Amino acid sequence: MNRAITFPLLSFFLSIFSLAGYAQEVNITHGPYIQALGENEATIVWTTDSNAVSWVEVAPAGDDSFYASERPKYYQTSNGNRVVGTLHKIKIAGLKKGTEYRYRIFSKAVRSYEGHRVLYGNIASSNVYSKKPLRFSTLDKDKKTISFLMLNDIHSRVDDLKNLSGKVEYGKTDLVIFNGDMVSSMNDETQFFSGFMDDAVTMFAGEVPMYYCRGNHETRGKFSVNFPEYFPTNTGKLYYSFRQGPVYFIVLDGGEDKPDSDIEYSGLAQFDAYRSEQQQWLKELIKTEDFKTAKYKVVLIHIPPAGSTWHGPNDIRNKFLPVLNGQGVTAMLCGHLHSYEYLKPEPGLYDFPIIINAHNTSLEVNADLNSFSILRKSTDGETLEKLTF
Ligand SMILES: [Fe+2]
Repeated sequence: MNRAITFPLLSFFLSIFSLAGYAQEVNITHGPYIQALGENEATIVWTTDSNAVSWVEVAPAGDDSFYASERPKYYQTSNGNRVVGTLHKIKIAGLKKGTEYRYRIFSKAVRSYEGHRVLYGNIASSNVYSKKPLRFSTLDKDKKTISFLMLNDIHSRVDDLKNLSGKVEYGKTDLVIFNGDMVSSMNDETQFFSGFMDDAVTMFAGEVPMYYCRGNHETRGKFSVNFPEYFPTNTGKLYYSFRQGPVYFIVLDGGEDKPDSDIEYSGLAQFDAYRSEQQQWLKELIKTEDFKTAKYKVVLIHIPPAGSTWHGPNDIRNKFLPVLNGQGVTAMLCGHLHSYEYLKPEPGLYDFPIIINAHNTSLEVNADLNSFSILRKSTDGETLEKLTF
């Protein structure tokens, strides 16, 4: 073949192959979803299938195109370095409370990183051309109403997850709480994404924030120490608090239910000390103005501190209840038992109701300045019970 023809052909095929190669260099594999949403900040989390440097562009709410102007970019940094990796969690700070924002995510492939020389590949991003940009609204303690949903003990039953949270809707549902045991163990990233998180993203988690309350099953498995990296909180711990409208939320981590030395934990459990650490944090928390001035106070913990004589519930009962009693707690919401129970206040033990949600029902809570109600709903969407406080 004539060399003059061969070279253009060769370069054409090379460019096709190389474009095809670039196209597969980085793909968004899971997410994005919103974590640690506060009045002035949000963290957007997603993963990619290869190393990338990532950013989020944020635009105010509006009907103008996302392309109307250059949008501010937020990167994940660590001590001044922009982070390269496959897990991307980007904190957007400096936001206004109770305000809607639109956002778009980007990941630029890092093909090689030697010394200070970085060779970049293509960019993957969320679609704002043929789809509406994703959005979120920051929390607002002055908001007059709140509606939130709680689910628990899904143990990877994605059909139940879909049925129980099918009505979650941006603008109507302020937030969703996963109250533990969403999977039966934490062995790797794929397990929790396929077990519940991918479907949560498809349904709502890109726009409606999800707050995680860890269950005892999430403490199990070799990935259990890594999984909190995917669910950042405002404390950097799995116990934290936040306020939306008239409700102050306290999220506690009950740890495991058996003694730390039990053979089932293979010498890797240290939850007694961890619950003591939380007790100290809780003692300080209840002194804060935000907590004291909230109309309603909701405590979330996976393992209920009653109805069992096992070590975990005993330790939770002994460490947390004396701090919470006398603080005007509206209700404690739990899971773990896979059956519904309503425990009315028990003088001397707990001065608030404890509501234990089943594995196949949801609790839909609606509150304003005058009332606080809970609808317990089945996977068919049927209301099984209404509790009013
Ligand atoms: Fe559990």
